[in-house]
Amino acid sequence: MSSASTTTTTQSFVERVQDFVSENKRAIIVGTAAAAIAVGGVVYYASSSRANSDLEKAERRPKDKKKPKKRKSAKDNQPILEEIVPSKVEEEDVVLTAEQIAAMPDKERAEAAASLKTKGNNLYKQRKFAEAVELYTRAIQVASKADPVFYSNRAACYVNMSPPKHELVVHDCDEALKLDSNYVKALNRRAIALEGLERYEESLRDFTAATILDKFQNETAAQSVERVLKKISTHKANEIISSREPRLPSFTFISAYFAAFRPRSLPTLPENPTTGDNTLILALQALEAGDYSHSVVLVNEAVDQGISWGAGEAEALNLRGTFKFLMGDVLGAKADLLQSISLLPSFTQSLVKVASVHMEQGDREKAFECFEEAIRQDPNDADVYYHRGQVLFITNEFEKAAENYQQSMNLDDTFVFSHIQLAVAQYKMGNVANSMATFRRTLTAFPQRSEPPNYYGELLLDQQRFQDAVEKFERAIEIERAKAPPMNVLSLVNKGLALYQWKQDIGAAERCCNEALRIDPECEAAVATIAQLSLQQSNIERAIEMFDRQAELARSEPELINALTYRYASAAQMDFMKNYPDMANQLNQMARTMQM
Ligand SMILES: *[C@@H]1O[C@H](CO)[C@@H](O)[C@H](O)[C@H]1NC(C)=O
Repeated sequence: MSSASTTTTTQSFVERVQDFVSENKRAIIVGTAAAAIAVGGVVYYASSSRANSDLEKAERRPKDKKKPKKRKSAKDNQPILEEIVPSKVEEEDVVLTAEQIAAMPDKERAEAAASLKTKGNNLYKQRKFAEAVELYTRAIQVASKADPVFYSNRAACYVNMSPPKHELVVHDCDEALKLDSNYVKALNRRAIALEGLERYEESLRDFTAATILDKFQNETAAQSVERVLKKISTHKANEIISSREPRLPSFTFISAYFAAFRPRSLPTLPENPTTGDNTLILALQALEAGDYSHSVVLVNEAVDQGISWGAGEAEALNLRGTFKFLMGDVLGAKADLLQSISLLPSFTQSLVKVASVHMEQGDREKAFECFEEAIRQDPNDADVYYHRGQVLFITNEFEKAAENYQQSMNLDDTFVFSHIQLAVAQYKMGNVANSMATFRRTLTAFPQRSEPPNYYGELLLDQQRFQDAVEKFERAIEIERAKAPPMNVLSLVNKGLALYQWKQDIGAAERCCNEALRIDPECEAAVATIAQLSLQQSNIERAIEMFDRQAELARSEPELINALTYRYASAAQMDFMKNYPDMANQLNQMARTMQM
């Protein structure tokens, strides 16, 4: 939810975590190995100009010294000059029986197979794919020693048939890769076929392996990784969203949301309150106590039971709509909030919340109309200016945002978030000195609040003033611990992050995040940080677990897609480590040396 109503600095937390750990998704795919290769500038393969045909030349991977070269390769390398007239060749061509083949010496069988392959290649170049298939099949039958190239070339024929025979491509590439797991061309071919079959996870596995084995030299394969990754994560995200029960976000998130509105006194009940009227009061009391799961049940009940007076009903619909909004039901929220306003046109809070709904729907103009209407209804409502500031902030209009925060503070300077957001907006405008001064004043004005030191710490961290940042986070943690539970654990996670950035102390960072999770198991920031730290340490299994958890906690579709992207990229990396342990070790070692 890009809700304008939560504290804006908190919003970007997950993004911030991911930014600092990894520059881009491709780096994630191979962990630190990719970065190491880029830094070291190690080029394993001279970039080879592409052959005019997509088909495998007989001499495959000429620069690969590990593979012993087969003798026949050299001959096949000068393709088929003696076979310019195919019809003549076909006349001479005798199909051998299984017995005849078995009776031939190995050397002769190899030569026969090589010759069949050459003919197949020739037919392939003439785009006679069905006939080429025939010859590769015979080459496979004749050969005494299975050759992956025969399968891969036959697969190339299936690729080019219309429609392409993806299943057969996969089958032949399976065979080729069984014979040579480092056969990059077969990997690419199978990846493309699997994508065509919408078997995206397997396709990603292959594209990933091909990219790494090629030392990131093949830009097309690397782009394919990203394309397939996107398909998987959007696909899975849709599946998850359409099947999951709407539920409330984490305590931390909801309390931040409600904290963005000044507390109001409970509505006065009519003389003879109905059951619904009383239930509404219970719902509001539960809200005040931070018992959100009860509050949501109670307010739903209250509306169903019926509320006897207009202002009360407007209050109930405001609360029910707010919970709907928090659970991602934007349309339901809008309906409730609009009804709330029509019952009580002066209800500025409902107007402000409808503005958030409009922003969520991408309608900025309507959002600002709501703010103007709210100001007409009550020009002295400090909340309205604060929230208008928030909308301006997320659209990067920091100067106007700052004016609105200031206006809100002029009306009521007891609301800590106006001060914090003003400081952050000043920072974003480049007025670092002003911003720091605003923070220092805010620390003095609100000595018992944990938010000023926490967000001040975030800006200090952004300036790489690590020690000062850690001190501020520690102060915030201290204040939170002294309070009645539940504790806001964001400062704990921030401290971990700061220690990591400052001293590369992964252990300390993890301890902070784990403690945060013990206190608040739904703290998305802690989950996201542990996931990234696990990736940093090549503990992919743990990272996947955490990305799964992050996906569970994700509220909006973009957040969900983001978590799933990392999750599936990590899974593909894990597959690679399992399937190519030697290569994975080599890369890991390189990554380690270069980090030192
Ligand atoms: C690069 O990757 C693409 C897509 O996977 C593949 O079709 C192509 O053959 C590869 N190019 C080379 C030179 O290996």
